[in-house]
Amino acid sequence: MVRRWLVTGCSSGLGRALAAAAARAGHDVAATARKTADLDDLVAAWPGRILPIPLELRDAAQCEEAVRVAADLLGGIDVLVNNAGAGLFGAVEEVSDAEVRDQLETLVVGPWRLVRLVLPLMRAQGHGHIVNVSSTAGRMPFPGLGAYVTGKHALEGMSRTLAAEVAPQGIRVTVIEPGGFATRYGASLAESVRRLSVYSTVTAETLRGVRGMAENPDMGRPEDCAAQVLGIVGADGAAPLRIPIGDDAYASLEAVEQASREELAAARALTRSTPPRPSATPPPAQGHGPERPGSGG
Ligand SMILES: NC(=O)c1ccc[n+]([C@@H]2O[C@H](COP(=O)([O-])OP(=O)(O)OC[C@H]3O[C@@H](n4cnc5c(N)ncnc54)[C@H](OP(=O)(O)O)[C@@H]3O)[C@@H](O)[C@H]2O)c1
Repeated sequence: MVRRWLVTGCSSGLGRALAAAAARAGHDVAATARKTADLDDLVAAWPGRILPIPLELRDAAQCEEAVRVAADLLGGIDVLVNNAGAGLFGAVEEVSDAEVRDQLETLVVGPWRLVRLVLPLMRAQGHGHIVNVSSTAGRMPFPGLGAYVTGKHALEGMSRTLAAEVAPQGIRVTVIEPGGFATRYGASLAESVRRLSVYSTVTAETLRGVRGMAENPDMGRPEDCAAQVLGIVGADGAAPLRIPIGDDAYASLEAVEQASREELAAARALTRSTPPRPSATPPPAQGHGPERPGSGG
């Protein structure tokens, strides 16, 4: 079945591989890039099937225009892939208000805005699929990537809520959680202006690992991630909401889930063993009916 895709961040990496894979499979793709010249070779390879659209996610007007143009050119949008993203390196104490806001504009506000813009179209069609590209960082911390981790956690929280809200409208939501893939992500990682030497030993390993991703032979190929996404979108029937991609992602997230279960059990044991504090004595009833236990705040 031919689908109409809107994929963000197609100048490189996972987005570029996905746009190419979808076009190769016969789908129509509105592919966005900040500089559409970066898409010239894709457009030349699949003329008429890859439609280049300029999009800077932090620009609200450009988001509106991108969705409008994509829907006009394609005659609708069946699949939105919120793929575009970039990271910011810096310990939590090092990252400024402006830097964290900027990171969240790209990782949360922009994708959220695109979701809001495509939903009326998808609702009118009676179907649609929103694919939000998160990361293992959407479920676990990485020292030195607090703003990125926060953005991906927020994207997952939004997606899980959205899924429950739009399922009755026939709209599906999927969160993709890639492990390590050899892309420009490491090279384009920004760094916070403020640096405090106290954090260098805690965060240095993260920075080294991320910067070296493109040359690391253990990283996956973007084409393999793209093939998985294509398969997920094409699959009928019930599917998990959050889908890790890559053996490394499963290994990390299984460890995270195990640690989370142990944390919950330890918290339960702690709260059960801690005697409750005496509560304040309630004022005497003033004739407003029977006393009820408090419902909490
Ligand atoms: N590679 C991995 O191992 C990995 C793992 C987990 C999750 N991810 C996620 O996968 C997605 C794609 O990343 P990638 O690895 O393919 O990295 P990439 O090669 O650097 O590609 C990122 C894409 O996002 C675009 N982009 C970044 N900021 C943008 C903004 N503000 N507005 C519009 N476009 C913007 C980039 O455009 P420009 O070329 O103009 O900068 C580029 O097209 C991201 O969401 C990333 O967080 C990647």
